[in-house]
Amino acid sequence: MADFKNKVVYQIYPKSFKDSNGDGIGDLRGVIDALDYLADMGVDYLWLTPFFVSPQKDNGYDIADYLAIDPHFGTMDDFDALVKAADAKGLKIMLDMVLCHTSDQHAWFQRALAGDADYQRYYILRDGCNKTCADDPGEPPTNWQCAFGGSAWQWEPRLGKWYLHLHDVSQPDLDWTNPTVRDELAKVVRFWKERGVAGFRFDVINLVAKPEVFADDTQGLGRRLFADGPHIHEYLQELVRSAGIGDMVTVGEMASTDLENCIHYTRPANHELSMTFSFHHLKVDYKDGDKWALMPPDMMRLKQLFAAWQTGMAKAGGWNALFWCNHDQPRIVSRLGDDKEYREASAKMLAACIHLMRGTPYIYQGEELGMTNAGYTSIADYRDVESLNYYRILREQGKTEAEALTILTARSRDNGRTPMQWSAGPYAGFSTKEPWIPLAKNHATIHVEAAQRDEDSILAFYRRLIQLRHEMPIIAEGDIRFIEEDNPDVIAYERTWQGEQLTVLCNFRPTDVHLRHLSLQDFADAQKLLGNYPGREECLRPYEVLALYRQA
Ligand code: GLC
Ligand code: CA
Repeated sequence: MADFKNKVVYQIYPKSFKDSNGDGIGDLRGVIDALDYLADMGVDYLWLTPFFVSPQKDNGYDIADYLAIDPHFGTMDDFDALVKAADAKGLKIMLDMVLCHTSDQHAWFQRALAGDADYQRYYILRDGCNKTCADDPGEPPTNWQCAFGGSAWQWEPRLGKWYLHLHDVSQPDLDWTNPTVRDELAKVVRFWKERGVAGFRFDVINLVAKPEVFADDTQGLGRRLFADGPHIHEYLQELVRSAGIGDMVTVGEMASTDLENCIHYTRPANHELSMTFSFHHLKVDYKDGDKWALMPPDMMRLKQLFAAWQTGMAKAGGWNALFWCNHDQPRIVSRLGDDKEYREASAKMLAACIHLMRGTPYIYQGEELGMTNAGYTSIADYRDVESLNYYRILREQGKTEAEALTILTARSRDNGRTPMQWSAGPYAGFSTKEPWIPLAKNHATIHVEAAQRDEDSILAFYRRLIQLRHEMPIIAEGDIRFIEEDNPDVIAYERTWQGEQLTVLCNFRPTDVHLRHLSLQDFADAQKLLGNYPGREECLRPYEVLALYRQA
């Protein structure tokens, strides 16, 4: 089995990471140029989001050719060079496999459109409801909504059918009940395995198994009907077997999943995945579950979710992927921290809070610098298909331009997609040309060079967290128990392993807070393993984190 419990993964969104040829778009050579920086941080795996041939309607998650590299990002030689150069520095590559849907430009969909019945069986095509005559499209087959707003069904006159797309209209869903489709996808995974990668991230993989009967969702928009659907566990077991990836690191992105399924996905005996991403903890500021309705974070809910998932997975032998940020999420320091006065303290606290839990931590590019949300003020700054769709939907719902922009400022996926900030130079050292997406407003002060000059930087703190995970089995292997469970100001937990104890106390407030059930004096004999303030006081200072270690 692959090694992942004491490892750390760094996520790279190539389009926004580093541009090597001055066209304003990040690329694979740019990643090669940054390998020293990454190796120096100490991370083990680099997960690269898709760089395959794509019309880029969803920034590469709409794949037109799984086996070729989009010229924007480079060539197959660049990819081979990256694997080799990374390997020489002890870094392993993980690729993003988007197996739930293709682009409508993929040859399979094009052949289906041209009338090839075999390829029509690759996709999910249905007749409409309430047709009045043979050529009437009727209405969409079900009321399911796609992730980016609007119906999940698109009428296609060339097929005389509606096709299902759970994401953008340009991303038709593949039909996993067709064994030929599963076989083709396993071949794709095997192809990349043979090119020397160490692992895979599987995009929205728990949405591939659709319900047997397609019916309206009477309680929602359909998600609960197609998440973790029938045969999903068998499909994953089959994929692992037929692609031959049982000994690799794998992580599944699980939309609207539950604890029970994630245990099943990740228990080693089931031979499915190494670990899963779940998202409930990143919805605690969604009003009534609606991403586009703002609400302050519900701290009690956040605490309960961590406690339930951490202890639930531990008890049953499952394994979590630990993360706050990725290319679909706003920046955590702007969300649960304070991106102004306490930016450094809160970024460090948030980092320690999840890195010291049980699971494998993921760092998303720029998180290690405390990069913030974009601060865009005009709709013209946005690029993301979801953000642009929802801007229109919010306006149609009667929101003013200012109200709609306020929501995007907090929720847009573009907050996490601004160019990586390397220096105070032109375009933050990302490119020599204007980047494809505007930089975050504060790029002149928050960047790699500044972080490298400061031995107390957020970057240095991440380096230390990575080093601790490598060195201390209690972090990788220890049990976990949550404490201070009724205290809405802190997240606190205790790790234990072979007579050792590590207590992690995180203050989520911009003020001093007191613990309710413990006193910091109880830890007089404990060693301060890590913190974001000098010394210790009786209370936790604003956004303070303390990791206190002792041997029984
Ligand atoms: C995943 C990706 C996201 C993409 C979607 C559709 O959620 O992380 O960026 O838009 O799947 O592929
Ligand atoms: Ca480029």
